[in-house]
Amino acid sequence: MSKHDLIIRVAGEGGEGIISTGDLITQACARAGLEVYTFKTFPAEIKGGYAMYQTRVSPEPLYNQGDTFDVLCAFNGQAYDLNRSLLHPGTAFVYDGPGGDFEPDVPPGVHAYAIPMTQTAKEMGNIKAKNMVALGALSQLFDIPEQALREILSAKFGKKGSTVVEGNLNAFTRGRELAAALTKSDPWKMEKPLHDNNSVVLSGNDAVGLGAIIAGLDFFAAYPITPATEIARYVARHLPKRGGTLIQAEDEIASLGQVLGASFAGKKAMTATSGPGLALMGEMLGMSFMSETPCVVVDVQRGGPSTGLPTKHEQSDLFMAIHGSHGDCGRIVLSVEGVGDCIGLTVEAFNLAEKYQCPVLLLSDGSLAFSTQTIPYPEPADYPIVARKTWDGKGEYQRYVITEDNISPMAAPGTPGGMHIATGLEHDQAGEPNYTSANHEAMQAKRFDKLKAVVDDFAPAEVDGEGEADLGIIAWGSTIGVVREAVARLRAEGHSVKGFYPKLLWPMPVEQYEAFAATCAKIMLPEVNFLGQLAHFVRAETTLRPVSYTICGGLPFTPAMIVGKAKEMLK
Ligand code: COA
Repeated sequence: MSKHDLIIRVAGEGGEGIISTGDLITQACARAGLEVYTFKTFPAEIKGGYAMYQTRVSPEPLYNQGDTFDVLCAFNGQAYDLNRSLLHPGTAFVYDGPGGDFEPDVPPGVHAYAIPMTQTAKEMGNIKAKNMVALGALSQLFDIPEQALREILSAKFGKKGSTVVEGNLNAFTRGRELAAALTKSDPWKMEKPLHDNNSVVLSGNDAVGLGAIIAGLDFFAAYPITPATEIARYVARHLPKRGGTLIQAEDEIASLGQVLGASFAGKKAMTATSGPGLALMGEMLGMSFMSETPCVVVDVQRGGPSTGLPTKHEQSDLFMAIHGSHGDCGRIVLSVEGVGDCIGLTVEAFNLAEKYQCPVLLLSDGSLAFSTQTIPYPEPADYPIVARKTWDGKGEYQRYVITEDNISPMAAPGTPGGMHIATGLEHDQAGEPNYTSANHEAMQAKRFDKLKAVVDDFAPAEVDGEGEADLGIIAWGSTIGVVREAVARLRAEGHSVKGFYPKLLWPMPVEQYEAFAATCAKIMLPEVNFLGQLAHFVRAETTLRPVSYTICGGLPFTPAMIVGKAKEMLK
């Protein structure tokens, strides 16, 4: 397959402005009409540690952050050491020198450019602007739109005052001059866009916040936790504009409790957390299921267990998402592939919660939380909204009356004649506590039977490819985007491969898995966790016996990793 993308990785110490540098490159390329897909990793500390920001740009659609970089910009020796093994012949290597803290032994075939970032920033009396010297050099060497960069960096640092902006612009100019004095020997430069795209660049977390607003969010309560906090920050900026309420609760237990209270009062309500917070929400998930109170819980997965890897990627909360809580506690679990999904499936999560009056968990992950992607400009009118079934005010009101679809009409507090108890105690159709065996059996059946309609009420899982295949690859979450590209590469090399990308993970669309497997000689299931969590449920709920391919190093798969494993299985 011919290469139409350019991948630039900026790496150095947290606090040196690595993230800002990558973000400015990304914004400038998106403004130029290119597709972008970014990924960043950074340490748990505010300063120090290794920070990296990778920007992939292309005139064509992008679904993941790519295999490795074409251009590496290293701010220090640690960044060089951590990335040296990826400096293949043909890659370009921009580094801080002379005057930096390392002297690289550049591998043969690598196009190296020494830019005295630290020294120049010091000479300008503005060490903080080291990253702007680097940005200027990158702009000059790889044709990153200069004017767009000047405008965007002026806007980004405007809140820090005109002196900072001017200092940064001067450092940017100096960086361009330093690079212009060098002889460019590499082939890399920004391609021109294919079309003028009406797109936006959004992070996965901001997209979840936008989806909630589009869905009609009224109430949001959460406790800050990496990597979910940006969802709350997005909602805090936009929810008050529409008269909604955001509360930073004292902990995650209270957060979901407040969400259930708001939902009981007739409001659309959501919380967002990560693994450690979801673990605390177990009992309240049971309260939602038992009292049939709608709620949306977003879980942005990170490395676990315990405090784990707060700023690193993993898909390891599926066991908890599907069964977290005591007793038999039902719920609906969705997972997102990319930023576009973060909008659409958040709306879907609300629609399903409101319709089926149960907890709906939306699984995102660190890779998505830290990624920004170009997506078509979202039009709220493109997202149908579903309202909860409400009582018509006629006859005697029973909150949990058995109906044909097992979904009972809801009456908001204060509705005349609609007074009722929404309780976590087992209860009868009127909501009165009832501990008899027959009643518990009947009410559990009601609460679970209503969820049987969910699979047919949700879009079928995407099948990537037609007919029979030697290998089928099942993927979920942001791993789907990586598998999508791997499948395309394998097909371009003549291999017979198909993909299966479920986004409704629970209740499991068993027949869709079986139908897919019936066309594949072998099945592989890659996921970023240690135990192979979706593979476990696939084996438990279907006749499939996929080969589980798991990694858990805090980073996402790359397409090359999937291709390599697939070729092993195709032998
Ligand atoms: N001139 C002036 N200011 C600049 C600048 C420049 N040339 N370049 C960057 N800065 C500012 C940025 O605006 C940012 O300021 P802000 O915090 O007011 O937005 C700050 O310097 C940091 O720069 P940035 O590029 O955002 O990050 P970095 O690459 O320096 O890495 C982080 C620092 C991201 C690692 C750190 O800020 C952080 O967030 N650490 C905590 C991680 C975490 O979530 N831990 C989990 C705990 S459970």
